Amino acid sequence: MKKTVIAGNWKMNMTRAETKAFFREITTQIRAKGGCGVVLCVPFTDLAAAARGARGTGIKIGAQNVHYEKKGAYTGEISAEMLREAGASYVIVGHSERRQYFGETDETVNLRARAALAAGLKVIICLGEMLDAREKGVTDEVVSMQTKLALRGVSEKELRSVIIAYEPVWAIGTGLTATPEQADETCGVIRATVASLYGKKAAKKLVIQYGGSMNEKNAADLLRMPNVNGGLIGGASLKPAAFSAIVAAANENEKR
Ligand code: 13P
Repeated sequence: MKKTVIAGNWKMNMTRAETKAFFREITTQIRAKGGCGVVLCVPFTDLAAAARGARGTGIKIGAQNVHYEKKGAYTGEISAEMLREAGASYVIVGHSERRQYFGETDETVNLRARAALAAGLKVIICLGEMLDAREKGVTDEVVSMQTKLALRGVSEKELRSVIIAYEPVWAIGTGLTATPEQADETCGVIRATVASLYGKKAAKKLVIQYGGSMNEKNAADLLRMPNVNGGLIGGASLKPAAFSAIVAAANENEKR
């Protein structure tokens, strides 16, 4: 049976002091051991504090980006090895905010994913269509292409360390959520694309998350869909009560 993974993406929020306070609170509410996978992707400067705060709880810590070179003259960048040393076991690549504001392309998403995998990190690859693509009826083509380009050169073995997060850009931070049916359908397209590359068995095992205004109210309905195996949560992951309610909804769903 597939395991659900609930991941938080804090984006550029939370100081180190706030991180410590968050973990003091969340660890009284969440025990990730035995239930669904729980990951929190925090700013680079919070990684060490988050890793310390999560010790012994089963909650995994991730970063929100990684550079594809091992080291060198890349001012402002962070390598996969640096992330691991700071306590990260996961990293998000290709978030739409990086694609929109920081020039991230399908090619650099692929390079980052491969570098992170080679360094032993688990990777959450984000993709999803813009509103314009949804309105023009080309969502399936867009997500299928993004999936293929992100996974170029990723081996079948490495795929086991990959999560794909389907995040329709029009649903991020807008309060607009894809309907459970829309989320399921597009996650299904991603799974079919992965099946065409790696075979049905590997595609079945792949965790595909939905992201975009997921919260404690809509999580249960989204997580119930067969192709949705978790969530990537922005705003609601900053609030311990909301985030732990989503984790609880995922644990309930796993029991069904
Ligand atoms: P929101 O949950 O704030 O819409 O953000 C989603 C997201 O971008 C997670 O990566």
